[in-house]
Amino acid sequence: MKTFAVPSSYPRRSSLLAFVVLWGALRALPGFAQSAAPKPALPEAPAPQPSALNNGSPEEASRYYKELSKKLGVLTPATIESQATLEDLLSYLGYKELTPEDVEFAKPESLMEGTATLAQALPVGGKVALKADTGSFMARSSEWLQSKMSIPAGVIVPDLVVANATRADAGASSLFEVVDAGGGKIGLKADTGNYVSRCNGCVAQGTIEDFATVHVPGATPPPLSQFTPELLPNGTVAFKANTGNYLARCRNCSPRINTPDAVGIHATDARNQPSAQWTIVRVGVSSGDILVSRFFAPKIVNFKDNPAERKTGWRRLVRMKSRPGSEARKHFVESAWILFNHFTGPSVHSPFGGTNVPLSAKNGSVNTQVALITQCKAGQTACQNAELNSIYWMDFGPSNKGYKLSYKLDAFFDAGSLPGAAPYYVPNGCDTCHGSLRGQAVLNHLDTDHWLDRLTDGDFPALNKPDAPPVLFDAGKDVKSARYAEAFGVLRQLNQEVADMQKRVNPKGFHLVATNKWLELHKTSVAPEPSLIKRAISFSNTGHPLKKDRKPTAAPLDWTSSADDKELLGLMNTYCYRCHGAVRYDVFSKDMVADQSSPILDRLDPNPTQAKIIGFKMPVDREMSDKDKKRMIELIEKLYTQTH
Ligand code: HEC
Ligand code: HEC
Repeated sequence: MKTFAVPSSYPRRSSLLAFVVLWGALRALPGFAQSAAPKPALPEAPAPQPSALNNGSPEEASRYYKELSKKLGVLTPATIESQATLEDLLSYLGYKELTPEDVEFAKPESLMEGTATLAQALPVGGKVALKADTGSFMARSSEWLQSKMSIPAGVIVPDLVVANATRADAGASSLFEVVDAGGGKIGLKADTGNYVSRCNGCVAQGTIEDFATVHVPGATPPPLSQFTPELLPNGTVAFKANTGNYLARCRNCSPRINTPDAVGIHATDARNQPSAQWTIVRVGVSSGDILVSRFFAPKIVNFKDNPAERKTGWRRLVRMKSRPGSEARKHFVESAWILFNHFTGPSVHSPFGGTNVPLSAKNGSVNTQVALITQCKAGQTACQNAELNSIYWMDFGPSNKGYKLSYKLDAFFDAGSLPGAAPYYVPNGCDTCHGSLRGQAVLNHLDTDHWLDRLTDGDFPALNKPDAPPVLFDAGKDVKSARYAEAFGVLRQLNQEVADMQKRVNPKGFHLVATNKWLELHKTSVAPEPSLIKRAISFSNTGHPLKKDRKPTAAPLDWTSSADDKELLGLMNTYCYRCHGAVRYDVFSKDMVADQSSPILDRLDPNPTQAKIIGFKMPVDREMSDKDKKRMIELIEKLYTQTH
């Protein structure tokens, strides 16, 4: 095997047999585990690569999507590239009622609760239960007449709709199927197959004219059984009948009825009458199927722009579990993690597009990244035989251009050496930063503490102003508020799922240790943890080839609260963590930084031969200030001497 060697500018590190540049190293090498030594095949002479990160090519991405289609049943290998949009992905996951715009822009709480749109709350063909303002559910009742009433022979008593079912006894009689009646109207079909209908004068001694009964059959609901649903601002739904009145709970509306609350069609102002407001509970859909979080994303920013002009990056992450019966579920895809990327000018404070703005004018996602997570449960042999990757990547182009499948993410990770954005193709560009194990990629945890660090280090002056949007966008800025706790709870749940996934796929990686650290610090606390030392991880990459040059240690070397450690970790948090929390090593492990200390010196201060290689010099995304660079070199040299 021929190697390409770049002479090191640091003679005392010659034991490293001259630093070897792994070209294409970013191509996630099979078998490159955190614990195993990479044994890459190196090209004889390195053709300069356009980017340090963007391994891969359109051809490879094309092959990858065809393979993905075959394995996962997303459209067909012949159609996936030309036709796939985010909309296809949503129906693949079993969410036909949601549009890409809903997923990208709907209020996070309502999307999570299933009430973002009428289509989401009342999907045609779906079954729903309707909760009244009292907390009781609407139910069909055949035993509603006061028992002392005697019914003359030949009189048929229709079932009445009452509002007395509790959650525990809410059985079939409190479930209604949504049937499309055209023109924005629907029918509610009860378990008997009959529709909820308006029945005029049907209950004697009633205080109202129109009661809701269940007695009309048919394939489509006739006018008496049609309602126009209206989504109210508080997330409940009102049902307007063809009289213009609304379906509402009616207390003590006739002495003939043996339960306090019947249901009538008598409310005139649903917005102001709680008795006409129904909370929709979907059957077979549990809360937690969709999780949404929005946050500041320093990782996607172009640091080459000067701080005052720098655009701010924002992300909206939507985690959707695949629905039972969906194509996704049939192909062992358990969830999709959909990541929208938004940018705003330094002083523009509406990163997520605002409400009631047409899509073309919204600040839509410029690029949407997706991770499809597969999982084989014990005993699923079909799944085991399918030899699935842990994650399948997809990428979609700009929202205002139709959310179309794309081969690549254009990002600024290499902006220090390349003008503008560079392409990062699926799957290599993604695998690199997501665990580096081909076929066994992992999710990355959401490091809220790091995002909050970035407010005060001078990189984002606009974001540190009082009127700027909060870093944890849905949480607000008051860490003591209930809103903060709730939004933070979603992030905690997401990170817990990231940890579960990492544990299943790559339990020995530093990624899991880092995620667990975050979970431990935030088990009960929602407040940011500003101390980098408290956030440091104890991790040793045993078996890494660079270890053999080090003085042996019994335990992993950990960051301490010494002044040098604090300063060095601080610099690395600002300049390197963007990538080296995920690529190759994590700066929060002092042990891994010590392993890398010699290559780090080369990368910070390349010799003339090394400097010719695009993407060799670190950081790749920006220039460090002379002062910071000098200090980092001094501190790393010190670390090198102590540990070698
Ligand atoms: C430079 C490193 C890097 C590259 C390249 C990268 N990612 Fe990520 N990705 C991250 C980090 C770090 C996060 C955590 C969110 C954050 O910090 O903004 C993340 C988060 C995600 C998430 C949300 C779920 C999670 O893991 O937290 C998805 C989905 C995702 N990336 C998809 C992709 C796809 C698709 C590609 C390739 C086209 C890609 N990523 C390339 C670093 C990267
Ligand atoms: C924008 C992303 C990014 C940033 C920021 C970044 N790096 Fe890197 N770094 C990479 C990538 C990608 C590689 C692997 C590609 C390669 O070997 O050139 C890498 C490789 C390295 C390596 C070689 C590791 C190995 O195992 O071969 C060292 C050492 C390194 N970087 C140091 C640093 C230091 C120090 C900083 C901060 C001053 C930094 N990097 C900032 C992306 C980044």
